[in-house]
Amino acid sequence: MREHTITTSYREYDYAELPTDVRRLIDAAKEMTAGSYAPYSNFNVGAAILLEDGTIVRGANQENAAYPSGICAERTACYQAGALHPGVAMKRIAIAAATDGKFQKNPISPCGACRQALMEYENKFGPIEVVLYGENGVYVIPSVASLLPLTFTEF
Ligand code: THU
Repeated sequence: MREHTITTSYREYDYAELPTDVRRLIDAAKEMTAGSYAPYSNFNVGAAILLEDGTIVRGANQENAAYPSGICAERTACYQAGALHPGVAMKRIAIAAATDGKFQKNPISPCGACRQALMEYENKFGPIEVVLYGENGVYVIPSVASLLPLTFTEF
């Protein structure tokens, strides 16, 4: 028997102490909560992805009366980046969420399906830093892999 241990570490910052480029990406994610269509959950999520060429691609969750047909903000953003900017690496994603116009006090973290989707691009192009915005603090996670250890890649 061999036991393996996986650890994840992340950094917590005050918004004000983050560099300008990271704050700008957070601002884009916060703004994108306005593009959320969430009449069923009333949970408005925005995401913004920085590409290696400096482009920022945005997304917001889109719900549907047939609930499983809806999609999260993170996948809206990363599939849009993949479709509009094929072959351009994604360097960082910022995520913010609000209800009734009030941002979450503590960050939300991408769901399993979004981690898997982001992981595909990370495997191709290198680490994507994950920045999770909360009013009380911002979590900075070095890669998607650190959120999805033992990920399914290829068979
Ligand atoms: N949602 C996201 O957009 N991103 C997440 O990381 C978690 C959940 C959306 C899906 C659904 O529209 C709403 O939030 C409630 O789950």
